[in-house]
Amino acid sequence: MHDEALNRWQRGWSASRGWTDFQCIDDVTVVRIGEPERRVEYVATEQHATAAAHLALTDCNPPGTSWLTIAAGAADRVAADLRPFEIVRTEWLMTVRLADQVSYPVPPPYSLELSATPSVVEAQVYEYGEIAATGRMAILHTGAVADMIQTDPAHRRRGLARAVMTALGHAARCRSATTAYLAASPDGRRLYKCLGWTTLTPLVVARTSLTSSR
Ligand SMILES: CC(C)(COP(=O)(O)OP(=O)(O)OC[C@H]1O[C@@H](n2cnc3c(N)ncnc32)[C@H](O)[C@@H]1OP(=O)(O)O)[C@@H](O)C(=O)NCCC(=O)NCCS
Repeated sequence: MHDEALNRWQRGWSASRGWTDFQCIDDVTVVRIGEPERRVEYVATEQHATAAAHLALTDCNPPGTSWLTIAAGAADRVAADLRPFEIVRTEWLMTVRLADQVSYPVPPPYSLELSATPSVVEAQVYEYGEIAATGRMAILHTGAVADMIQTDPAHRRRGLARAVMTALGHAARCRSATTAYLAASPDGRRLYKCLGWTTLTPLVVARTSLTSSR
């Protein structure tokens, strides 16, 4: 379930972060991130959670640095099944047809600037030269993936994140993207719902335990 959406999200997320080294092993996408705290990410649907867990428990990475993202309809059950792991958080895989995303302007006195590489568009919202909100969208063919949407705490609930999403969605449509995906935090989920996004599945995010020996 949601294999294609998960796959498209992972590819866009990896493009946004500059993680180019990934491959599929036993229906699990292995993203070699290479950061000290997050060496590798195993991305899989619920039915392949066991294979992902096996890969994480048998790789050579230090404890706590192998991560899992599992698309799990029954998030509680999957979290219980992943007992040897530390459950970090639950996110939600969401999607929208870009033509259906609700549009909002940038509220005064803020201004928004866009910059782009061949596959990633970045938005920055400024107030008198200071950054108040940022976000980016990776665009791969007809799919787009929003990532790192954030508003400085001092500027929240003023409509900045929805203006960022509007600008990113418009830029993605101009590049022929039709459908967008993202992994939402609890706060983000409320924002995206108000923009017309729908939830496909919870995502359980876990990592190998720092304490238990493998
Ligand atoms: C989520 C986040 C980006 C929202 O930024 P923001 O600029 O405050 O969002 P907006 O003002 O554009 O909110 C638009 C609408 O989204 C909803 N919304 C946003 N944040 C909300 C919250 N914390 N609680 C409830 N609803 C919320 C509301 O409907 C809001 O409209 P309203 O203020 O008129 O009620 C911001 O809280 C943040 O940076 N959080 C930490 C990082 C994070 O979780 N990012 C999302 C990653 S997926």
